[in-house]
Amino acid sequence: MAERPRLLVTRRLPQAVEAYLDEQYDARLNDSDTPLGADALAAAMREYDAICPTITDRFDSEILAAPGRTVRILANFGAGLDHINVAAAKAAGIVVTNTPDALTDATADIAVLLMLMAARRAGEGERELRAGRWTGWRPTHMLGRALTGKVLGLVGFGRIAQATAVRARSFGMTVLYYSRRPAPAEIEASLGAQRCASLEELVQAADIVSLHVPGGQETRHLVDEHLLATMKPGAILVNTARGPVIDEAALAAALRSGRIGAAGLDVYEREPAVHPDLLNLENAVLLPHLGSATIETRTAMGMQAAANLDAFFAGRDPPNRVA
Ligand code: 8YV
Repeated sequence: MAERPRLLVTRRLPQAVEAYLDEQYDARLNDSDTPLGADALAAAMREYDAICPTITDRFDSEILAAPGRTVRILANFGAGLDHINVAAAKAAGIVVTNTPDALTDATADIAVLLMLMAARRAGEGERELRAGRWTGWRPTHMLGRALTGKVLGLVGFGRIAQATAVRARSFGMTVLYYSRRPAPAEIEASLGAQRCASLEELVQAADIVSLHVPGGQETRHLVDEHLLATMKPGAILVNTARGPVIDEAALAAALRSGRIGAAGLDVYEREPAVHPDLLNLENAVLLPHLGSATIETRTAMGMQAAANLDAFFAGRDPPNRVA
């Protein structure tokens, strides 16, 4: 039998995925699950044929262009690629793949969960109860706001945004979106979603704004002090995309003043650090990057990454090739 390709899997993956990769590849698994530093990643680029990285591994142009490289493919476990300099990988002739389909529903679920938690003050209520501060039912206790009849503004209109639109419609919400390119008319019609001409127009009309744009330089601080001031007073902001899309300090200030009613966040500017002001705000719902965290989804993501590796080493074009 031909020698199996040498594969580095940088973090623990669901058991079924590790078992498959271990069988098909000369795989090095990360039993301790500690993130690899830049030096270890640079060394791995000269030792393996392939790497299956995650968001906690940073591949900058220096690592990708370094001499002596043996790695030919980065089969990313995840959809977002802001931790990999894809242009530099392409220039160096390294194939990059991702797992775009597997996590769509799970991440849309978390967007809706955050909307509900923020609108219905779920985190605040749980904290009150656990602290023994709940004095019992009363008609005016912890009143939140309804989603029914409200306008949802989706920033970006890819797979996850569209899956969020389907869910929002079932809550009786009106769906608007903004993306640079309009979606095909039949998609707009089937989702009942209408495009706004600009981001400003969208956030002026939306009661809830949900972010679904890729991370990276282009979208860094897209939601800044100015955009927050343009949003409807008391609006809710939800982020399941990437932390740096929001200027966290500006958001904390807008939440503190009540200009923004509430926020539901799953991602942060400097994960795992969270802006200290956010931690003290009752109107901030804060989840630890759980977007795709179900056993079904993480297994499917791993199997999608494996399918990309399998195709590559069989001499075929990997199905989710981005570079
Ligand atoms: C993943 C994500 O868990 O896939 C993405 O883009 O944000 C997460 O849901 C993470 O990226 C895995 O690398």
